Amino acid sequence: MRQLTKVLDSRQRKSDFFCGKEILDNYLHHQAGQDVKRKLSACFVMEDDETGIIQGYYTLANNSIPLSLIPFELQKKLPRSYSSIPTILLGRLAIDRRFQGRGCGKLLLIDALHKSYEISKTIGSFAVVVDPLDKDAENFYTKYGFIKLPDSGKMFLAMQTIKNLFE
Ligand SMILES: CC(C)(COP(=O)(O)OP(=O)(O)OC[C@H]1O[C@@H](n2cnc3c(N)ncnc32)[C@H](O)[C@@H]1OP(=O)(O)O)[C@@H](O)C(=O)NCCC(=O)NCCS
Repeated sequence: MRQLTKVLDSRQRKSDFFCGKEILDNYLHHQAGQDVKRKLSACFVMEDDETGIIQGYYTLANNSIPLSLIPFELQKKLPRSYSSIPTILLGRLAIDRRFQGRGCGKLLLIDALHKSYEISKTIGSFAVVVDPLDKDAENFYTKYGFIKLPDSGKMFLAMQTIKNLFE
């Protein structure tokens, strides 16, 4: 089956990408390649088959969050000996303006969650964490069940919930 996303490489047309949020555009244009080389994050892109235009991208990295930030209902099921909880950071997710509003964001998010779930089978990962740029991004993640973590601006979705999507 054809994969939705490819690993970022130097041949892709990064400089054409424009999602409307400068920080996310600049990241893809100037920094993503370096971060991938340095193993600071993995970057996956979705390309238009005909034109090779990058329709969207997202990044994944290892991460952890303090146990105290986890909502109490979940926290009480976790051992107190864990002061921080392993998670996967979906650091950035963006769709090019030309492709927004056509379901691409949803597809990329599902792809990122599926990859994260597969990773969690070999490396303990309690949740996927996102760091929304603004209220607009926060609303997008809320739609898919992400919950706000107190005092951090971050949001998370438990891997147990993600598992239920794919099994
Ligand atoms: C936010 C973003 C990723 C959404 O991608 P998209 O391709 O336009 O969204 P989709 O067409 O896949 O939308 C899927 C669903 O989410 C909804 N949605 C899209 N953007 C939304 C938002 N900001 N808030 C709430 N819901 C949103 C759509 O209405 C759609 O709902 P439906 O399935 O019930 O019709 C895209 O607009 C984007 O790249 N924005 C700039 C970068 C950014 O803010 N990234 C966020 C992470 S940092």
